[in-house]
Amino acid sequence: MNTREMFKKAVAGGYAIPAFNFNTMEQMQAIVQAAVETKSPVIMQVSKGARNYANGTILRNLAKGAVEYAKELGCEKPEIVLHLDHGDSFELCKDCIDNGFSSVMIDGSSLPYEDNIALTKQVVDYAHQFDVTVEAELGVLAGVEDEVVAEESHYTKPEEVIDFATRTGCDSLAISIGTSHGAYKFKPEQCTRDPKTGKLVPPPLAFDVLHEIENKLPGFPIVLHGSSSVPQDEVDTINKFGGNLPDAVGIPEEQLREASKSAVCKINIDSDSRLAMTAAIRQYLAEHPDHFDPRQYLKPARENMKKMYIHKIVNVLGSDGKLG
Ligand code: 13P
Repeated sequence: MNTREMFKKAVAGGYAIPAFNFNTMEQMQAIVQAAVETKSPVIMQVSKGARNYANGTILRNLAKGAVEYAKELGCEKPEIVLHLDHGDSFELCKDCIDNGFSSVMIDGSSLPYEDNIALTKQVVDYAHQFDVTVEAELGVLAGVEDEVVAEESHYTKPEEVIDFATRTGCDSLAISIGTSHGAYKFKPEQCTRDPKTGKLVPPPLAFDVLHEIENKLPGFPIVLHGSSSVPQDEVDTINKFGGNLPDAVGIPEEQLREASKSAVCKINIDSDSRLAMTAAIRQYLAEHPDHFDPRQYLKPARENMKKMYIHKIVNVLGSDGKLG
């Protein structure tokens, strides 16, 4: 299904739909199990990097399998969107639309304003012929995500959003209010330190910008990228078992919970899944040095990701029990 009805209900109901990135079968299984057990709608998203890693055809068929798998797990009418994350050209979006994606993002945020409008509109005009919904982006997020890299962030300018949404016809808008991609969302000098734990405390999100945007576009679906919380217990496990992730820091979950109650109706989470998977694998291999069957260490990795997905759905985004 596309995102239209899903977002309408989420904005009205004051919750957000989880958008989890996936690259592997284990991530797909964990996402589906978590969504079915919590009765949550879910967006499974594929980045250009995921397509390069796993192959677009394979990921598409994994997503088809996800719907069948959810039914097999007892969910009569799963609500699963297959979404292209950070499409960077009309051709890539068209390829996904032609091949069964129900939603695409065209990310023209690094382009000049008028060029972003023109590219987004071109994708919208094509996508809507097939009832595929389109996410656009205004403002720039800092951080690194696959092939999307930006040094500096620029908050979305609220004075531009009405013009942008009207002229492009996009179905949802990703905005920049201080979130950022990756496990190092903030430099230490942007943060304070908790005197007890020594951990970094990040600067708060710009809720004033979010509320201004909501006032300009009442009820319009807003998307937050870069919303991993970088759970410190996973970072500690990784570091304990041979990893080296000093000062990894994410977005505090209470801020995401607050955002979910607003017009923010899609929250993107990728890094937290990577951390949950890596932590479980590092621990397993350190504790079982004689094991070499991938199923042995991918099983706890899958369990750990599922636990994280369920936690996000129930305790942060509030999308549990929201299946139609
Ligand atoms: P994180 O790196 O915070 O998980 O963000 C992922 C994302 O925004 C995908 O588009």
